[in-house]
Amino acid sequence: MDRTVDWDGSGEGAVTAVDQRALPAEYRLRRLATVDELVAAIADLTIRGAPALGAAGALGVALAARRHAGDPARVRDEAERVAAVRPTAVNLRRGVERALARLGDGPDAVLAEACALLDEDEAINRRMGRRAADLITAVCPDRPLRVLTHCNSGALAAVAWGTGLGAVRELAGRGRIAEVLACETRPLLQGARLTVWELREMGVAHRLCVDSAGPSAIARGLVDAVIVGADRIAANGDAANKIGTYALACAAARHGVPVVVVAPESTVDHATRSGADIVIEERAADEVRTVAGVPTAPPDTPVYNPAFDVTPGALLAAVVTEAATFRDGAWTVEAPAPVTAEAA
Ligand code: MRU
Repeated sequence: MDRTVDWDGSGEGAVTAVDQRALPAEYRLRRLATVDELVAAIADLTIRGAPALGAAGALGVALAARRHAGDPARVRDEAERVAAVRPTAVNLRRGVERALARLGDGPDAVLAEACALLDEDEAINRRMGRRAADLITAVCPDRPLRVLTHCNSGALAAVAWGTGLGAVRELAGRGRIAEVLACETRPLLQGARLTVWELREMGVAHRLCVDSAGPSAIARGLVDAVIVGADRIAANGDAANKIGTYALACAAARHGVPVVVVAPESTVDHATRSGADIVIEERAADEVRTVAGVPTAPPDTPVYNPAFDVTPGALLAAVVTEAATFRDGAWTVEAPAPVTAEAA
């Protein structure tokens, strides 16, 4: 598989992205040559998933800096347009800010910074996958695991490898996965369309279930651990992730099943004190009134469509990043090691 988000240096340069709307029917790349095209691709979930959004944000600034060289005010306006498309996933704004910090050094420096973010992504993801797999193995030592996951936290949600599903990939490599139960993840079916596609590519045994079957699978003893990613993690360990995660965590807490959130440091927002301070993106009503474009409710039905919910840190067995672990109400930071693409 190509990098989910990348830079194509041919011609005037453009962002390339695996078109996540087309999967699983078709694997295709899109070339996004303008900030307008990139903003639209982020809004319609051609590009989605927190680390992938961070990469797209940084590359969006690189695009703007090349198109409007000599007009830093215009570049900043374009950068803000990109950063504002999806408010919950903090990686998007962080990616934008990281690239923007090099604006004074010229368009090539901005692009180099964006490309450095992309290069680091896989190494970071592999490292957090190893750390999460070690922790999960310690918590659940007995047998190959039946894991439940929600939404898509695989390579498609990042530049490569993945976060939550990256930990599953690491566990599978260690022979520690019996089965993954993937929740379909209404309304946009990231679990059914993307996670199942990735699990097939990985050769990991899996079954798909409707979202409402997840809590009952936990209650019936069919799940040893819940592993997910996150879009923003507050200082107190509260984690925003795809809508439906909270219900799974409530069921898991009720039945003593560990929930582990796997996410990069760039998803941890220490400036946000608790989950109550996380802005939750609300999306279009038609996402709920239709399935794959087919109406399933009267067209004018009022809709509640939050893209994410917040799971209190107290319901999580752990949050694992490439460098730190949140457990029992506190963060423990590992001695820092340099992150390089070679470390992958
Ligand atoms: O609306 P999406 O598809 O961007 O939501 C993505 C998720 O909720 C993922 O679980 C999250 O980004 C973490 S995976 C890197």
